[in-house]
Amino acid sequence: MIANLEELEDRLSQPSPADCALMQRLEGDILILGAGGKMGPSLARLARRAADNAARPRRIIAVSRFQSGSVARDLSARGVEVIACELLDPARIQRLPECLNIIYMAGRKFGSTGRPDLTWAMNVLLPARVAERFPQSRMVAFSTGNVYALREPAHGGAREDDPPVPVGEYAQSCLGRERVFEYHSQAAGLRCLLFRLNYAVDLRYGVLVDIARQVFAGQPVDLAVPAFNVIWQGDANSYALRSLELCASPPAILNVTGAETIAVRDAAEFFAARFGRQPRFQGSPGTLALLSDASRCHALLGPPQVDSAALMEMVAGWVQAGGPSQLDMFNHRPALEKYDGQPLPAEITKNERYAFIKPDAALFASQFKFSKQGRCGAEISEVMPPSLIAPEVDCPKGISVCSSPREPANLTANGLFTSLSEIGLPVHRKNDHDLASYPHCFIYIKR
Ligand SMILES: NC(=O)c1ccc[n+]([C@@H]2O[C@H](COP(=O)([O-])OP(=O)(O)OC[C@H]3O[C@@H](n4cnc5c(N)ncnc54)[C@H](OP(=O)(O)O)[C@@H]3O)[C@@H](O)[C@H]2O)c1
Repeated sequence: MIANLEELEDRLSQPSPADCALMQRLEGDILILGAGGKMGPSLARLARRAADNAARPRRIIAVSRFQSGSVARDLSARGVEVIACELLDPARIQRLPECLNIIYMAGRKFGSTGRPDLTWAMNVLLPARVAERFPQSRMVAFSTGNVYALREPAHGGAREDDPPVPVGEYAQSCLGRERVFEYHSQAAGLRCLLFRLNYAVDLRYGVLVDIARQVFAGQPVDLAVPAFNVIWQGDANSYALRSLELCASPPAILNVTGAETIAVRDAAEFFAARFGRQPRFQGSPGTLALLSDASRCHALLGPPQVDSAALMEMVAGWVQAGGPSQLDMFNHRPALEKYDGQPLPAEITKNERYAFIKPDAALFASQFKFSKQGRCGAEISEVMPPSLIAPEVDCPKGISVCSSPREPANLTANGLFTSLSEIGLPVHRKNDHDLASYPHCFIYIKR
């Protein structure tokens, strides 16, 4: 079981022998664009560790806006060069260093609403500028399984040569990103690989984590989408790195996900058994899901190191050890109470196809009560044990945990760390009780 956030980050960025062997062979530095999101930091660390292991001098450069400054500081401390950059500024792209290997991860987030123009600028215009700026590079371009049609699980997942059928502007803009890279590959010889990823899981996010948290909280699990594929984020990172060697002109295409198709009902029943609860379900079971067949990836690069059974065990351990969602801890959304159980507003689902959000999906408020705590009046839910709240500190900007990594209190702290980092608050970990040196802390755990 992974006991805390440091261990999780360590596992996610642990290079495999194949990653280290790649770094022995590969020429050139590695530039990661859009490195500040969910996957980029662990991928940058993985690349750094694999390069150090190979003992060949190599720059690993992470580029992002780095809206969370702590990510940039952490990467920098670990030997990754960091460039804070608004990639939509064409002049900034021109100033990026030459680099033979690029992992392109920047994108407007799945599920973003409003500003469809920005979705198209990020997902289509920016790839064109990057492809023009780096015509000689190898480009692993992150894409998504959302470009495929929905399928019945019994028929297996979509394969790379199935025609894309993107539904809604998000999926269409992702196909647009692929087409722009493909154009530059055909027209100018850009060596490229379209990396169609389906659902990375890192214990803090992902569809498996969502199901586990729902079961843990006694909430019903929706069966409208019957099945899904997932992959351990560490495996996805490793595949992304090693895909650099598979870049080609015209572009290669790779579906990237786990080997198994997981039924939503089976996953919920597994977590229920692990948590000692009765699973609850809602909705009539659907027949169609977004599924990918990643056998080409596994044949070329080897099977994932973490299979779905091991991944489900890890998720169960993490959630059970105290990883409730930030929505049930700090991120109070009182307006949701008014809409509890009601359908999603039409503007969110209109003309879009989301893998796990059906047009008739309902909104749910947190099941837990929130109240103002301490002098700062921070709204904290009843999930948080009162003994963990230090009322005398009044600036709700972060957390400090004083305990050794294996103590039970620290397992509870997983949830706190996860929740706070998900909502962008700084997290400090320390081994003594000198709370005064962290003026922005409002919670600490006594040893
Ligand atoms: N995670 C998955 O399961 C999954 C599945 C399918 C596809 N994908 C795709 O794979 C890619 C990486 O996944 P992810 O989960 O790490 O995505 P993510 O969390 O959305 O990270 C992408 C990062 O790009 C950076 N970015 C966005 N706009 C930028 C701009 N204008 N200038 C500079 N940086 C910008 C942002 O970081 P800053 O805040 O630092 O700017 C953002 O967090 C994404 O394109 C995603 O859509 C992911």
